[in-house]
Order: sequence, then C-alpha cells, then structure tokens
Amino acid sequence: MENKDQLIMTAQAMVADYKGLVAIDESVATLNKRFEAAGIPQTEAYRRAYREVLISTPGIGEYINGAILFDETVHQQTLAGVPFLKALEQAGVIPGIKLDEGTEDLPGFPREKVTKGLDDLAERLVNYQKLGLKFAKWRAVILIDGALPSEGCIVSNAHALARYAAACQQAGIVPIVEPEVIMDGDHTIERCAEVTEKALRELFNQLNLLKVELRGLILKPNMVLPGNDATEKANADKVAELTIATLLNAVPATVAGIAFLSGGQDPETASANLNAMNYNYKSKLPWPVTYSFSRALHQPALEIWAGKDENVKDAQASFLELGKANQLARRGELIQTGISL
Ligand code: 13P
Repeated sequence: MENKDQLIMTAQAMVADYKGLVAIDESVATLNKRFEAAGIPQTEAYRRAYREVLISTPGIGEYINGAILFDETVHQQTLAGVPFLKALEQAGVIPGIKLDEGTEDLPGFPREKVTKGLDDLAERLVNYQKLGLKFAKWRAVILIDGALPSEGCIVSNAHALARYAAACQQAGIVPIVEPEVIMDGDHTIERCAEVTEKALRELFNQLNLLKVELRGLILKPNMVLPGNDATEKANADKVAELTIATLLNAVPATVAGIAFLSGGQDPETASANLNAMNYNYKSKLPWPVTYSFSRALHQPALEIWAGKDENVKDAQASFLELGKANQLARRGELIQTGISL
C-alpha cells in the first residue's frame, strides 16, 4: 500500500485533539422521515438548507474533526455559492462520505440484513477520492432477538465490511467500519455485550484476512446497552463498564480510534455514557474513544430549525452546545465542568 503513512495520518487526525466526528450522511429516505416528523417539507431544497445550517455553524471546527456526508450533499453548495466541501475545509473539518447503499434481506436468514454497495465500490472510491473526500463509512445492521443474530449474519456483514475497508485503503481513503448492534428489542445489556463482542471478533478476523491496515482505520461501534424495551435499564457507569470491557476483549490496540454511533439514545444519555467511559477508564484505553453521532449531535437542531430561516441561529447554537458537551465527554470532564445533563 503506497499511501499507508497518509492513511495513518488522516485516521489520527480524525480523532485528534479530543474532538470527534459528526454524521450528516442520512440517506434521502431517512432524512425525509425525520423532516416529516418535524413538519419540514421533504424536498432537495430543504435537505440542502438543513445541511447548510450544520456545515455553516460558526466554530464547529472547535469540536468536530470530520463530517460524514451523503452523496447528495457532496455536490451541493451554500446559498452564497460556496461548495459544501470548500465550506468544510474553511472550517477545518475533514470531509468523508457514506459508501454503503443500505441493507437488503440476507437470503435464507429471515429478518436479518446484509449491507449493499460492494459492486461498483472501486469506481465510486476513485471518484470521491478525486473530489477530495478523505474517509468513508459503511454500516452493517445486527439485530438481537432470541437466537438472532445468526452466525451467517455476523460473518456476511463482517466480510462485507472488510471488503469495503480494503477497497477504501487501496484508494487512499480511511475506512470507518460500523457494525451496529441495534437497540431494538427487550434484551439485557449482558446479551448486547455478548453479541457485540462476537460481531467485533469476527470483524477483526475478516479485516486481518483481507490485510487491512488497522492503524489507518476507525471503528464506529454501538455502545453496549440494554434493548429499548428491556425492563432493566443501565446507568452510565454500567454502560461504560460493559462497553469498555467488550472493546478491550475484541479490538486490537492498533486501531486508530473508536468513534461511537448514538443509535437513538437521547443526546444527554449518549454524552453521559461517553463521559463515563473516558472518566472511569482514562488510563486503560489504548485508543482515543470519541463520538461520531448523528442524532445525539443534531436532532435537537433539526427540530429547532423546523425548516425556518428565523430559527437558523438557535439551531446552530444547539448543535454547537452538543458539540461542546461531547468534546468534554471525550475528555471525561463533562460532569466536573457543570454542564447540566
Ligand atoms: P446515530 O448517532 O444517529 O446513531 O447515527 C450515526 C450513524 O452514522 C449511523 O450510521
């Protein structure tokens, strides 16, 4: 791999300085769904306007190292005519791109999914690399329910993630690998820990088979949590304990960084959990442990904006406030500084 040093430097820059990443890569269907719930028209113009609210927030570079974009956004610009990629560069934010194309049914495995997008990946990578995108993301979905996930689901998704990661590195793009064990269901936190560890062990097995350079890769895992409908909830210390134990068991120390998804947790909970990991285990972590949230960084901003120009400033203030809270959580300093949760 000719560009190994560059890949490693980019991966390190993505998690440097106690900052994290923001995911603004919702597909058209997903963003439209969120718009519908917030009473915002589901058009390309409103999606562009929302992305401009986030990208043009003054000072985001203080809390955000990189932004994961969706294809539509890569080609858009601000109302003043500045391409979004340029606006991010001016803000000191590294641009990345979501490369998976959603999920489809895994044949022979009822209710389980495998992620699509490998077919024309090499070609798309070359194009995005030319446009200046430095990193990419691929999400796999793993459902817990009774005996699920199956071995077939875990191996198929881990293999696709590894194929994607190898292709990214070949093109000089840092892969974010996201094997998401979703929160749906009534399973215990211990069951989530067990499944997450299994999925991560298989993921690193496949990454090693395909000779992926772990120093040039970011892992985007779920936090270890009880299912949404579980009777027994878990506090931040418990989430931190099981999440860090799971990661330490399954993730090699050479991985450049861990950047969590929020998975539908409310912003306060996601930040408190991240804070507990960094506060309780600071000296034991071999990798930077940070955020790559979508909803926990900007769902409140979307609701405040509500599609109206007069709300842009308040929406941006909310996004910035959550950026700041998560940066403190990344340091394990959220509670001590008195930001209310
Ligand atoms: P959430 O933080 O809303 O889970 O989104 C992160 C993400 O990028 C999902 O792929």
